[in-house]
Amino acid sequence: MKDNIILIGFMGSGKTSVGIRLSYQLKRTMIDTDKWIEQKQKRTVSEIFAQSGEEAFRMMETDCLKELVRTADKQIISVGGGLPMKEENHALLRELGTVFYLSATPETVYERLKTDTTRPLLQVEDPEERIRTLLKQRAPVYEACADVVLDVSDRSFDEILEQIGKELRLNKLLDSNLFNQEFVPKRHKFF
Ligand code: S3P
Repeated sequence: MKDNIILIGFMGSGKTSVGIRLSYQLKRTMIDTDKWIEQKQKRTVSEIFAQSGEEAFRMMETDCLKELVRTADKQIISVGGGLPMKEENHALLRELGTVFYLSATPETVYERLKTDTTRPLLQVEDPEERIRTLLKQRAPVYEACADVVLDVSDRSFDEILEQIGKELRLNKLLDSNLFNQEFVPKRHKFF
């Protein structure tokens, strides 16, 4: 198994924001599978869904994971919310490193994404209902894929990062001093 930190969870659970903070704190680079695909395709995720369909996007996600298994080490990897739903991706995630599931309630997700237009799966008449349905299907799969489950709905970023640091130290995946440094330039708007 490689020494990456992988963040999984539903859209709007804060994977990218937590990942950016972790990357500052641990001085590791961060990869986001959606961004990776967009750069490779020179199209946005919405354009890929509209022009090529969801199935094509899911294949791109698996290609991305395979490439990361070959090339990524000591990195923070944030993965799209639907990626763990494909069985084939489970072994690849495990091979990549330690998997953290950022678990958020449907209410939290809805509050964060109610004005978002970049998630094609939520551009429906009743996004709140869609979130509930998808989350119900997905939560058990996220849990099964995860080494660590973190409830992020009522937690501050500092608490989430502290928890991740504890888990990493517990598993001897982190130099114990690294996480105590003051860092966090507050230049990103979170949630
Ligand atoms: C998706 C989540 C999105 C993106 C695509 C599909 C999903 O990523 O991959 O819109 O199926 O949950 P984020 O989880 O980063 O929003």
